[in-house]
Amino acid sequence: QAPVVTIDGPSGSGKGTIAKLVADRLGFALLDSGALYRLTALAALNAGADLDDAEKVARIAANLDIRFAIADAEVSAILDGVDVSQDIRMERVSMAASKVAAIPEVRDALLQRQRDFRTAPGLVADGRDMGTTVFPDAPVKIFLTASAEERARRRHAQLQGRGVSVSLRDLLEDIRARDDRDMNRATSPLAPAEDAVVLDSTEIDIQGVLQRVLDLVQQ
Ligand code: CDP
Repeated sequence: QAPVVTIDGPSGSGKGTIAKLVADRLGFALLDSGALYRLTALAALNAGADLDDAEKVARIAANLDIRFAIADAEVSAILDGVDVSQDIRMERVSMAASKVAAIPEVRDALLQRQRDFRTAPGLVADGRDMGTTVFPDAPVKIFLTASAEERARRRHAQLQGRGVSVSLRDLLEDIRARDDRDMNRATSPLAPAEDAVVLDSTEIDIQGVLQRVLDLVQQ
C-alpha cells in the first residue's frame, strides 16, 4: 500500500495550501476531499434536489461523473464534462456542502472513491476525516488548526485580495457555524485521530508549517 499523509482540520486552517505544497515537495498525488463534498452539493443543487432528502443526495454522490484535471500546477474540477472549479467555491455551494457532508449515506457513498486516490509513490489527503475514517492506517497524520479569529482574518485578507468586500464579523460567524456543524455531526465529526500530530498555525506561517510537516514525514 502506498503511504498516505493525512492533513485534517477546520475551515480556513490552511490545510488545502499545506497539502498542495507537501504533495509537490514529495511528488505525491493529492486528494482534496472537500472538493468531492462540494461537487456533490453542486450536483444536488443543479438537480433541484431537496438537500434534506438523504437517499436522493446519496444517489447523486454515488453517481457523480467527475474528473480532476491538472494544468499549470492548478487542479480543476470537472463535473459532467464541465469545469466547475469556480462554481464549487461559491458561498451557496459551501453552505450546501457542509449540509450534505452531514448525511451519513453521502459519506458512505464517497468513501471508496476517496480510497481510490491512493497511488504510488504516495498520497496527501486533505479533509476532516482522512486520518480517522478514510485512511486510518496512514503513517503520517496531521491535524492543522488555528484560532477561529485568525482563520476569519486569513479568509478576509484572501477575499479582499480578490476585491470581494465582506465584514470580518460575518466571516467569523460563518466559520463558527461551520465548525459547529463539522464537530457536532453524528458521522465522522471533526476531531484529530488518536495518532495525529496537532499543529496550531495561529502563530506559525505557511513555510513554518510546511517544514514541520516535512520533518514529520522524514522521521
Ligand atoms: O474550505 P473549507 O475547509 O471550508 O471547505 P472544504 O475543505 O472544501 O470542505 C467543504 C465541506 O465539506 C466542509 O463544510 C466540510 O464539512 C465537508 N468535508 C467533510 O465533511 N469531510 C471531508 N473529508 C472534507 C470536507
